[in-house]
Amino acid sequence: MRYIILNRRDLTMSIQIFHTDLYPTCFHLQTPGSSYVMGVSQDGLLIHLHYGAPVAQAENLTRAENSPWFPAKPGETLLDHVPLEYSGSGMADLRPAAISVEWPEDGDNIADLRYQDYALLPGKPQMEGLPQVYTEKEEEAQTLRITLCDAKGLQVDLFYTIFDNSDALIRRTRVSNKGTSPVVLHRIMSSALDLPDSRMELVHLHGAWAREFNEERMPVGHFRQCISSTKGASGHQHNPFAALVTPGCNESAGEVYAASLVYSGNFLIETDVDAMDQLRFTIGLNDWCFSWQLLPGEEFCSPEAVLVYSAQGLGHMSRTYHRLYQNRLCRGSWRDRPRPVLLNTWEGVYFDFNRDKLLHLAKAAAEQEIELFVLDDGWFGHRDSDNSSLGDWIPNEKKLGCTLRELAEDVNRLGMKFGLWVEPEMVSPDSDLYRAHPDWALCRPNRPATLARTQLILDLSRTDVQDYLIDAMSSVFESAPIDYIKWDMNRNMTEIGSFASPEKSAGEIAHRYMLGLYRVMETLVTRFPDILFESCASGGGRFDPGMMYYMPQAWTSDDSDAIQRLDIQGGCSLVYPPSCMSCHVSAVPNHQVGRVTSLDTRWNVAVMGGGFGYELNMTALSDEEKEIVRKQIRTYKEDRGFLFTSELYRLEAPADGMFAYAQVAPDKSRLAVTCIRRMFRAQRAPLWLRLNGIAPDKQYVEKSSGEVYSGTELLNRGVRIVLDDADFSSVRLDFVEKK
Ligand code: GLA
Repeated sequence: MRYIILNRRDLTMSIQIFHTDLYPTCFHLQTPGSSYVMGVSQDGLLIHLHYGAPVAQAENLTRAENSPWFPAKPGETLLDHVPLEYSGSGMADLRPAAISVEWPEDGDNIADLRYQDYALLPGKPQMEGLPQVYTEKEEEAQTLRITLCDAKGLQVDLFYTIFDNSDALIRRTRVSNKGTSPVVLHRIMSSALDLPDSRMELVHLHGAWAREFNEERMPVGHFRQCISSTKGASGHQHNPFAALVTPGCNESAGEVYAASLVYSGNFLIETDVDAMDQLRFTIGLNDWCFSWQLLPGEEFCSPEAVLVYSAQGLGHMSRTYHRLYQNRLCRGSWRDRPRPVLLNTWEGVYFDFNRDKLLHLAKAAAEQEIELFVLDDGWFGHRDSDNSSLGDWIPNEKKLGCTLRELAEDVNRLGMKFGLWVEPEMVSPDSDLYRAHPDWALCRPNRPATLARTQLILDLSRTDVQDYLIDAMSSVFESAPIDYIKWDMNRNMTEIGSFASPEKSAGEIAHRYMLGLYRVMETLVTRFPDILFESCASGGGRFDPGMMYYMPQAWTSDDSDAIQRLDIQGGCSLVYPPSCMSCHVSAVPNHQVGRVTSLDTRWNVAVMGGGFGYELNMTALSDEEKEIVRKQIRTYKEDRGFLFTSELYRLEAPADGMFAYAQVAPDKSRLAVTCIRRMFRAQRAPLWLRLNGIAPDKQYVEKSSGEVYSGTELLNRGVRIVLDDADFSSVRLDFVEKK
């Protein structure tokens, strides 16, 4: 017998519940391109039956001969080989558990999770205090909640949400202590996935400061592999994202199982292949030093994991993430608005400015038709270097030569909006704030604290410190007409502890810090709805979905070199929508790598991102350069509506060492194609770039040449790419549909 619930004909998603002889209750979540099937065994285990391409008759997966069981003797199950949906701990499944607990009263470490019930929930129920994907209308999404219980009163609710017209599956876990004694959580994964085939490759993003988002791919080994952060932020080194792909998977072909965590702190992604070649793939909070006590009646919510299955390679995976994150994770008045073209003062003048210099810069920016003038670090306390004043958010009027309001109004009079840099989470030992409240810094009491960039981190696990920060930032934001804030964070957590709760573990404090930070951010973005917030952590050190919920764009990297940015932005675009990437044209020789590239190439790379601007001394440009920049800005303004809503297709480069991408209108009526060369190589045959994402049955006119192409020609033969015979040359072609 089979019954179907939440399956409307006009929707592309459905959740079906049915039962068979072997599995009294089964669940089938279907999206346009995926099926996710689970079944409850007769002894109450929640078994994972399928995740992958759609299956029409999911009940067939539950035939006895399809059973993924390995009974040793009748009635005896080798739990270690059973594909479990969410494995408990301390029992016969010896693979990495999804949850691990301890009952301090008797030392018991068992979580024997058995199915209790389920609920179908319209839309997507929201949780308190954590960033999350949301719906605007209930009918956009459907949620399944499955409840598992341990006899001692531990209740685990697994949430699965699917969206109409999307191949994303959003998972999270809620643990409640319904028992009578305290329980300590040591590990709680947001999602666990047992896949039957381990012949996969792991794709992830690794990096360092000024070299973020490098894509790495390697076979999954017969051991435990992990991608993680213990830095107190998602970090430069690893991003909270990984994908398992079939060998040979490329942009448009091959299977992909991807997972991304909506969280900005310590995370953990693991693959583990068991002795039977089965693969367990988990994602969630890092269990490093983590312990969280749940008293009777208390509950704990994991961050959300967003899974995407694609049978059409990495391109479909990326665009699934882009659409969801741009439209249903980012929020606020700037979500759908193309962003202003900005000039940021950092690489132009660093800490070395005064009123005259700033106004001189601002005038030059206004002449170039810049729309937003951003004053970066160095405007507060007595900060002329990175050695002091974080925490003293009082404008340095001596240096500025006026109040912040007067400066902002001067900028406004030049026809530009005014923006400001802050690094609220930090405190310099040389600051009035630290002198007044040394116990407000994260530190293990009675231990020395490591300084990094001569600064410490404020203890945002404390409510009083959160409240102080909300007040301090509100005063700054109210003190002048401020339209944009760059919210920076420039060091890792070390010696993690709190003077307010010295007994708590580093892992717990690090998570409480994130909850505190999210509270601060939620309050401020709600209180200042018109400010455009950009997050930053020494570039892309906290470029993650968690931050995107509060701040719709992020500074992608402190490396602004156009050629290094190809890998950085290309890797970032694997998960994150280009609309969220901040990308600037900076001076040459480039300040990070010393490379000289043309203004054209710098522009061609920077317009990939929705946060477009310049970060150089505009007064130092030659007249010829000024002319180019003005033209660039005008072109960008004309195109930004299209660019902001366009879909990104990473293209197969026409030759080694090249990078090519297309920005395609969702209705396929227009596309901009960019191709950039790294090193020039002599003796080259003509280059052909095959496009992707366009309509085969449309005709397109290339604007600069007036040539007409059929969609099939562009897709299957490609367009001839002509580049200057030089290193770092680039070309951008604009195609519009021929009506
Ligand atoms: C960080 C940021 C930079 C700049 C400096 C200022 O490194 O990533 O863009 O704002 O701080 O100190």
